[in-house]
Amino acid sequence: MIKRFEKINRVNGELSLTGDKSISHRAIIFSAMASGKSIITNLSQAQDVISTMVIMHKLGASILTKDRKIIIGGMGYKGFKVPASNLDCGNSGTSARLIAGLLAAQDFNSTLIGDESLSKRPMKRVVDPLMKMGTEFQSNEKLTLPVTIIPKSNINSIDYEMPVASAQVKSSILIAGLHCDEVTTVIEKEQTRDHTEKMLGLPVKVTEGKIISSSSKKYYPEAKEYFVPGDISTSAFHIILTLLTPNSELIIKNVSLNTTRTGFIDVLKKMGANISFEDIKTSSNEDYGNIIIKSSSLKNIRIDSQIIPNIIDEIPILTIAGIFAEGEFVIENAKELRVKESDRIKSICTNLMHLGLNVEELENGFIVSGAIKNSKPVFESFGDHRISMAFSILSMLLDNGGEVNGFECVAISNPKFEEQINSIIK
Ligand code: S3P
Repeated sequence: MIKRFEKINRVNGELSLTGDKSISHRAIIFSAMASGKSIITNLSQAQDVISTMVIMHKLGASILTKDRKIIIGGMGYKGFKVPASNLDCGNSGTSARLIAGLLAAQDFNSTLIGDESLSKRPMKRVVDPLMKMGTEFQSNEKLTLPVTIIPKSNINSIDYEMPVASAQVKSSILIAGLHCDEVTTVIEKEQTRDHTEKMLGLPVKVTEGKIISSSSKKYYPEAKEYFVPGDISTSAFHIILTLLTPNSELIIKNVSLNTTRTGFIDVLKKMGANISFEDIKTSSNEDYGNIIIKSSSLKNIRIDSQIIPNIIDEIPILTIAGIFAEGEFVIENAKELRVKESDRIKSICTNLMHLGLNVEELENGFIVSGAIKNSKPVFESFGDHRISMAFSILSMLLDNGGEVNGFECVAISNPKFEEQINSIIK
């Protein structure tokens, strides 16, 4: 579906977003693992999160919606039932990686499948450590989905130094580790999002610049109530639209402010953005609060490589801020972008070249400079929700608007994208 967006004049108002996608996946998985009834408020409505929910249901967990709350009846330690068919992760890398860790520690075989995009994305990164814990896997040569998980006996704990900066891999190992008496440790050189550690209350220490998180049976989740704060990655689109539109001001309420996710706000502030936080609270060890954004003129800065894992999902929309900011916009050390829902380096560069900008594609990033020349652009979503939303926002900032082909994939993370935008444009 091709969707047309006209230039907008002003952003103003207040917005509440549905729950953060990363926290929602974990709240569902931990509730399904626990014994008894957990209640989740403000769960994400993303298609990805529905994939996780359907899988947990197939494994036996009961799921009920009541008064906009989700009530999950968990199966308890190793209580999951053998699924009747393959477990479909759809487009969701987080479902595939986290649930692989959970299934590696059960007493039955299971098979994870996914859509065309997910079936191209690497699973070796979780298969390697989970094999070290004693589980076997059957897959193709490339080690992509479908993957059959064949647990052998009780898994053993490991100490694992991460070869890639990935919260999904870290979480997969830590979740498997919840099934061992002995302690499993994961050692990271670069900090990645820490929702699994925070939500389970896992020990984390920093020594000689390395972040060491550990898990064991002692931290196996118990039934509880979760409040999922608004999705910070979703808020990035509304934040950047507000910053780049004159005479605009927006308040986004109760958004996750976990510091392993707010890196893009640090980058924007360094670029000159007027963004502040207020009314900060905590739930399940996760900070959240209101974000206040006012129109700002921006200057590009050098983005430090250490912050890349923190801003990895926001790079498509940060690029839109970058092309309106003074100076050239440079992303480096971000090779992981090539294995996201699309090859995001390619997707971004292709769309920007179409605008007539000077674009240099690097192996691990890209450089953009120059002025927009094409006044009637049609952007491609590449079936990637964040590319679709980033170029929809860009279209709203162009004098003659713009179009996005394959817009509908926004539902992967935010089915309410258009509704939210319509409620804040004046
Ligand atoms: C996620 C981790 C990130 C991120 C993804 C969600 C998570 O992936 O890109 O959207 O919830 O753990 P990687 O950890 O593989 O970089």
